[in-house]
Amino acid sequence: MTDLTLNDGRTMPQLGFGTWKLPDAQAPLVVRGALDAGYRLIDTAAIYRNERGVGEGLAGSDAFVTTKLWNDRQGDPEAALDESLALLGMDAVDLYLIHWPAPGQGQYVEAWKALVRLRDAGKTRSIGVSNFLPEHLDAIIEATGVTPVLNQIELHPRHQRLEERAYHEAHGIVTQSWSPLGQGGDLLQDAAIVRIADKHARSAAQVVLAWHLAHGFSVIPKAADPEHMSDNFAAADLTLDDEDMAAIDALDRQERMGEDARAM
Ligand SMILES: NC(=O)c1ccc[n+]([C@@H]2O[C@H](COP(=O)([O-])OP(=O)(O)OC[C@H]3O[C@@H](n4cnc5c(N)ncnc54)[C@H](OP(=O)(O)O)[C@@H]3O)[C@@H](O)[C@H]2O)c1
Repeated sequence: MTDLTLNDGRTMPQLGFGTWKLPDAQAPLVVRGALDAGYRLIDTAAIYRNERGVGEGLAGSDAFVTTKLWNDRQGDPEAALDESLALLGMDAVDLYLIHWPAPGQGQYVEAWKALVRLRDAGKTRSIGVSNFLPEHLDAIIEATGVTPVLNQIELHPRHQRLEERAYHEAHGIVTQSWSPLGQGGDLLQDAAIVRIADKHARSAAQVVLAWHLAHGFSVIPKAADPEHMSDNFAAADLTLDDEDMAAIDALDRQERMGEDARAM
């Protein structure tokens, strides 16, 4: 399992496990299954309403835990993180993210200052953001001098985010891909992906995840199905060749599945 080094000196597993849409009641079993399958990075968020179950599944493990500040709590990150920690049953998380910049609210810069204080107080070991565009990253870095360790953004072969990736690279920010499998939709039936999967005798999901890993992104596929869970974890030992990478790089359609960060 490859680790990435963050710009604050800490390390994080490159391949992790997402929990969006995982009901709280199922989360303990599914998260324990993910740990048994080998995952050591688990991604949740206050808005997923499953932090209690995720925390129960994680009890006693040494996994790297990420949670996120929802938009309606940007005015009060200290209390919001305390509530997340209480649900998770933890004294601190590894990584706390601002979930969306929500620029229409005009609060994300102050929220980032609060995350810096929370890191200094030891409630979270690292701090980062999600769904931030370069203009939002510029604003928080300029206001605090603190660069997020990571930006978790929608990224998959049909939405490759070249501008954001270049910004991250220039500033030492890890790119973490959400919906890396295109939410398990028709991306996994794409002719180019299926051809590469057949060539390596691997699944289409493994090919897509191997593409993310080869580009250096952290990736957090979600899978409630235990077969998907172990299939995805095994992507770490699939090496794509230059021709495979070029064929997948050519699939970008700038086709977003989620929200527009400027519109919120
Ligand atoms: N920061 C944000 O705004 C944001 C937004 C969205 C997501 N996220 C995070 O990113 C994580 C991943 O994104 P996502 O859940 O949207 O989508 P995803 O990981 O791209 O896809 C998940 C879907 O693909 C299916 N799947 C998983 N492995 C598969 C395989 N090997 N073969 C076929 N199908 C497979 C899953 O089915 P089963 O569950 O039935 O196995 C599920 O329906 C989330 O869980 C969440 O932690 C963050």
